[in-house]
Amino acid sequence: MNITNAVVTGAAGGIGRALAARLRSDGARVVLADVNEAALAEAAAELGAEAVRTDVSDAGQMDALAAAAPDVDLVCLNAGIVGRDLGAPWEVSPQDWDRVFAVNVGGVVNGLRAFVPRLLSSGRPAHILITASLAGLVTFPTGGAYAASKHAVVAVAEQAALSLAGTPIGVTMLCPALVRTGMSPDGEDPADLAEQALAAVRAGAFTVVPDGWPAAITRRAHWLATGAPPEMPF
Ligand SMILES: NC(=O)c1ccc[n+]([C@@H]2O[C@H](COP(=O)([O-])OP(=O)(O)OC[C@H]3O[C@@H](n4cnc5c(N)ncnc54)[C@H](O)[C@@H]3O)[C@@H](O)[C@H]2O)c1
Repeated sequence: MNITNAVVTGAAGGIGRALAARLRSDGARVVLADVNEAALAEAAAELGAEAVRTDVSDAGQMDALAAAAPDVDLVCLNAGIVGRDLGAPWEVSPQDWDRVFAVNVGGVVNGLRAFVPRLLSSGRPAHILITASLAGLVTFPTGGAYAASKHAVVAVAEQAALSLAGTPIGVTMLCPALVRTGMSPDGEDPADLAEQALAAVRAGAFTVVPDGWPAAITRRAHWLATGAPPEMPF
């Protein structure tokens, strides 16, 4: 597909900023959305993009974002947080469960609620890129609320893809392992991931999964299907 107008959430840093930079260098107009106002203004100035300060966990703010980008043909629902308490489920505070789910799952759901009806009524081809995580396809014991929230994001992305089959709207789900961003000092260069993600959007692929991990995803499916106990993913 030809991408001319894009919206990226979590665009002030990390993967979102890399997606926005790549889209700008490919010639698209981009609306950057982020809750961090200072970083957002700096990114918008550097990339020559429009900025709309948005907290993705707020349905009204996501609706205002969609209204500000009526011609969008790529919506990147990317904003996410790790939370404070990584650990076993009972070690995570109630506040952390609520906030991580509000941003990671609520942000994607609010984005779909705000953008999909507008895109469907426009009748134009469009695409939704959802940033989930490898942590949503395999399970690490100490993933805290983050891991569970990313499994939920995977389910929401699949629901969206199934519900939008046969419409001009495609869905791609990005499931990175570690990426060097504000979230992680180690991992892949976000610029490389952005290039891979946009190639998958253009090719109409559903998932982007890092090399070396498909076997772990298949092993998980096996014990889920057979009743064998879960194992570490590596
Ligand atoms: N970095 C990794 O290793 C990694 C791996 C897998 C998936 N991810 C996912 O990639 C996405 C982007 O994360 P990143 O690695 O670029 O992290 P990052 O912290 O560098 O960037 C996240 C951006 O989201 C913004 N943000 C946070 N809460 C928000 C809210 N409520 N509303 C709007 N914006 C908000 C932050 O201000 C920040 O600019 C997240 O969904 C994350 O879970 C990251």
